[in-house]
Amino acid sequence: AKSPIRVAVTGAAGQIAYSLLFRIANGDLLGKDQPIILQLLEITPALQAVTGVVMEIDDCAFPLLAGVVITDDPEVAFKDAEIAILVGARPRSKGMERADLLSANAAIFKVQGAALNKVASRDVKVLVVGNPANTNAYIAMKSAPDLPAENFTAMLRLDHNRALSQLAAKAGVPVASLEKLAVWGNHSPTMYPDYRATTTDGASVKAKINDETWNRETFLPTVGKRGAAIIEARGLSSAASAANAAIDHVRDWVLGTDGGWVSMGVPSDGDHGVPEGIIFGVPVTCAGGKYTRVKGIEMDDFSKERLKITLDELIGERDGVAELLK
Ligand code: NAI
Repeated sequence: AKSPIRVAVTGAAGQIAYSLLFRIANGDLLGKDQPIILQLLEITPALQAVTGVVMEIDDCAFPLLAGVVITDDPEVAFKDAEIAILVGARPRSKGMERADLLSANAAIFKVQGAALNKVASRDVKVLVVGNPANTNAYIAMKSAPDLPAENFTAMLRLDHNRALSQLAAKAGVPVASLEKLAVWGNHSPTMYPDYRATTTDGASVKAKINDETWNRETFLPTVGKRGAAIIEARGLSSAASAANAAIDHVRDWVLGTDGGWVSMGVPSDGDHGVPEGIIFGVPVTCAGGKYTRVKGIEMDDFSKERLKITLDELIGERDGVAELLK
């Protein structure tokens, strides 16, 4: 039998975790033959709520679950973790400026990056879900100088999956037939879902849809503002779909994509003029526990414009937290 893998999850009392933890324990993350130890981090006032969630996890009698740790100490939560899914973040409260939100989260991810640096597995794969996800991942990466920078990623997969679903519906084809979608940039409404290269059973989706007005006036805003539309309809932000995307992101990173493209926020290598180190959504393929950026994608004028908008936003966020990282 395989030995258990330690999976750390932060924000364990929150709504995304309420979907995510059960699926991890069920084997959806690392496979049905891989035992798991869950290491759950919360802020002190939420620890009691976590014990309630863990009572429910116990009541599922998951065969793969080999242990659960509950803590408010990042160095306990991240000890020997091979996977760290950082969901917990400070939400925007009433009257909070964007700059305050950035610095409140920078403080959290600085501490958590330093704890990962100190106690996690040297191969820990980090996924940041908590917003602003790209910049939070950047802060954690910068605060963990002894860990490989490429192990810090941000979640663009929910945007990727939202785009796949919209495209499949528009083109009238099954989601499973779609390949080669790219979502570029920041996990924010500025992100650029790009189906210029997308195929359905090998044929161009762009040619099949053949409607650039739909792309610009319907598709891009629908995917970009999907989070807000869900809050409007549900009264709460997307949680089960975010948990599902986190599972997809980590599972594909660990188990591979068989040549298929997925979108991940990863530290830039300078491609497409994105300054090195900025955590930027790009298409990747995964194999052997590593992701590889898809190279050689040409940018037309419209795509260049879209990339610039989302990059400018990320540069602004990076500059906004620079002082805190000193
Ligand atoms: P939530 O508010 O229900 O749960 C967040 C939990 O994190 C709370 O229980 C809170 O106590 C905890 N937390 C706060 N600071 C913490 C810290 N320093 N250490 C450990 N835990 C901490 O929020 P929800 O709905 O679960 O969303 C979590 C985050 O995910 C939010 O920032 C949200 O904006 C983001 N999100 C990101 C998506 C993406 O695609 N990247 C999609 C959907 C949500």
